Amino acid sequence: MSTISHKSPPPPCAMVIFGANGDLTKRLIVPALYNLARTGLLPKSLALIGVDHNKKTSQEWSGGVKEFLAQILAKNSEEIDDALWQQVASCMTFLSGDFEKPDTYARLKDLLADLDEKRGLGGNVLFYMAVADRFFATIAGKLGEAGLVSAEASSINKEGGFRRLIVEKPFGHDLASARALNACLLKYLKEEQIYRIDHFLGKETVQNIMALRFANGLFEPIWNRDRIDHVQITVAESIGVETRGKFYEATGALRDMVPNHLFQLVAMTAMEPPVSFDAEDIRAKKAEMFKAIHPLTLSDVVRGQYDAGIVGDERVKAYRTEPNVAPESAVETYAAMRLTIDNWRWAGVPFYLRTGKRLAKRTTEIAIRFKQAPYALFRETPVEELDADWLILRVQPDEGIRLRFNAKRPGPAMALESVAMEFKYKDYFKQAPAVGYETLIYDCLIGDATLFQRADQVEAAWALVEPVLTGWAATTPRHFPNYAAGSEGPSAANDLLARDGRSWRRIN
Ligand SMILES: NC(=O)c1ccc[n+]([C@@H]2O[C@H](COP(=O)([O-])OP(=O)(O)OC[C@H]3O[C@@H](n4cnc5c(N)ncnc54)[C@H](OP(=O)(O)O)[C@@H]3O)[C@@H](O)[C@H]2O)c1
Repeated sequence: MSTISHKSPPPPCAMVIFGANGDLTKRLIVPALYNLARTGLLPKSLALIGVDHNKKTSQEWSGGVKEFLAQILAKNSEEIDDALWQQVASCMTFLSGDFEKPDTYARLKDLLADLDEKRGLGGNVLFYMAVADRFFATIAGKLGEAGLVSAEASSINKEGGFRRLIVEKPFGHDLASARALNACLLKYLKEEQIYRIDHFLGKETVQNIMALRFANGLFEPIWNRDRIDHVQITVAESIGVETRGKFYEATGALRDMVPNHLFQLVAMTAMEPPVSFDAEDIRAKKAEMFKAIHPLTLSDVVRGQYDAGIVGDERVKAYRTEPNVAPESAVETYAAMRLTIDNWRWAGVPFYLRTGKRLAKRTTEIAIRFKQAPYALFRETPVEELDADWLILRVQPDEGIRLRFNAKRPGPAMALESVAMEFKYKDYFKQAPAVGYETLIYDCLIGDATLFQRADQVEAAWALVEPVLTGWAATTPRHFPNYAAGSEGPSAANDLLARDGRSWRRIN
């Protein structure tokens, strides 16, 4: 895994962005490249080729993305540094073409060969599919047929060079479609050429979970069933579906968040220590962890859908009245589950996961609850007041780590109170401005796949949620909508923990 501050620029290469006029390119990819330029981590020689069916000149393309960049920087009261922007803009070439037409790839091949020769790119090409998922198989197939993903057969550069492919999310909609997509990609590319993005893994705090666990002698000895009672992972959003009603109606909270983001957080928290930080060693440990998760049943899961309510000071509408949402929609906007991991470290330690829209606050955290101390010494303290210790890894907002433990309240009596020690990233580190894609793109450019998902991981994650997807599709939820916007989710989610004598942490 790369640690950007100590790294040097990647080798020369061409980066081909399919979907060059799309939202992702404008809001995240190009701003991430600009941020890489400011940290000196763009390749010294680079060609940035945008492919899209919108008809544009290269100047129009770079002008359009520059406007977006200006808006993004303005949010931090920053302006574009023209010299830096020139570094990015001078590499940009637009190729107008349809993803489905072979002619697009023939012209792309000629353009790549030409730029490779002019700029000395060594035949290295990173293809980025910043497009809707229905194009993933088409583009990979057409690149394969045009001989563009196999360095040996390429006419771009006789010397060869690397060929890599970034695949955006979602990677499939269920197990069968994920398998089919993997099979299609693997027909033309080797596994080590494929970078399946889960942008959660681009977040500093998610990467820091590994540093916390494996770079400190303190935590790993207590990171097991002897000391840990259970783990709660929350990815809560306060926004609703906004303009994405059509997408959400076909997706739902479980598909959208669980097999990818939430399971990656579980993997980071629960995997065994790898023998090195090499991509394959880490991926092998994650794969082992997925294998150990006990198959989910419908009794392990809860679904919910938001009703009208108040979020912050704003009165907001019910999911079923959002644009492009069916008035009787049975789609879940909330999912919670209880996972058990059947291995030596975690046997008997449940992992409770929840995610949802229109919840009380936006927060992403991993909360580890330690076992209660024997309280014989504190007979005067009612048990319910003696809180257990918690370690909270906060992914967003206010990234940091908080340790909650009991301390004596000042005064003559031996009275206890739960207190907190807190580490906040922003207090310790001057963070380089980032949109969250910098590390991911940089890692692709240097060929480090640690933060990307391997085919077997993606399929294992879909296999785990498959029985739930099937079960939910076969039954109509009886009490939808079942939680008010701005609340902490449906009461059935509380029952899921109450069954085990536990309760959720407040979402705050
Ligand atoms: N946007 C985000 O914030 C975000 C965040 C995380 C992940 N993602 C993922 O990133 C990917 C791209 O998302 P996006 O929001 O950027 O999509 P998008 O805005 O629809 O961008 C896709 C681009 O491809 C063009 N296009 C469509 N059909 C084409 C064709 N047949 N030939 C050539 N060009 C074609 C579109 O043009 P027209 O629109 O003019 O048809 C558009 O410019 C998706 O997989 C998404 O899940 C997006």
